[in-house]
Amino acid sequence: MTELRVPAGALLASVLPAQVRAEEWFGADPAGAVLFPEEEARIAKAVDKRRREFTTVRHCARAAMARLGVPPAPLLPGERGAPAWPDGVVGSMTHCAGYRAAAVARRDEVRTIGIDAEPALPLPDGVLRMTSSDEERARLAAYSAQFPEVCWDRLLFSAKEAVYKAWFPVTGRWLGFEDADVEFDPEARTFRARLLVADRPFDFLDGQWAAAGGIAVCAIAVLPAD
Ligand SMILES: CC(C)(COP(=O)(O)OP(=O)(O)OC[C@H]1O[C@@H](n2cnc3c(N)ncnc32)[C@H](O)[C@@H]1OP(=O)(O)O)[C@@H](O)C(=O)NCCC(=O)NCCS
Repeated sequence: MTELRVPAGALLASVLPAQVRAEEWFGADPAGAVLFPEEEARIAKAVDKRRREFTTVRHCARAAMARLGVPPAPLLPGERGAPAWPDGVVGSMTHCAGYRAAAVARRDEVRTIGIDAEPALPLPDGVLRMTSSDEERARLAAYSAQFPEVCWDRLLFSAKEAVYKAWFPVTGRWLGFEDADVEFDPEARTFRARLLVADRPFDFLDGQWAAAGGIAVCAIAVLPAD
């Protein structure tokens, strides 16, 4: 996949507005990241891989919160897995092999955030067909003809997961892969998800993507005026 030249540690920040604080971690999980006792209790029975991603991503989230002036607090999985943020804070977290990241903002400056990271590799067989429409796949073919080095199937999947993470905290509702139509601007590295469900707080969710170090990230931040 084509990679952006971004300063170390600035991949996620490169796709988010200034109101959002982003922190990320590439590579092996850091020693010394700690959990609150109530977080420990939630992860006590998890396998080591899950425990490490859960811990490191919360380390990132608390570092990002500190940059907003928000003191450290437990970040417990809530309804349908959505993290419960401190009052007045919105945020999103993601992890994949070799990468963990969190993005947070003040609720009065940003309505909602959705971030997703994926390895910058083609999707496993069959996943694209299950998560995209005929129209979306036709567009991906056109993007691939223009930019063959980009893993467009993976990017579409990631954009949709970012859409869900931005959607859920606002609505408390499920959104299926068929419930949004995602179109990319391949040159601008942006995307627009058109929501296809009735009774929706947004007609569109707009996002950006970037790739570096073998990781592709998609990010959405909805500002109050959007
Ligand atoms: C929830 C989901 C998006 C997570 O994505 P993923 O690629 O599996 O995992 P990631 O590492 O990127 O993200 C996991 C983090 O997402 C966050 N998350 C989980 N459920 C969430 C929800 N309902 N709303 C917002 N954030 C959520 C959590 O912070 C979680 O990390 P944690 O458990 O350590 O706190 C995915 O598992 C899923 O259910 N997808 C189906 C829904 C969907 O994507 N619809 C497409 C709409 S167009």
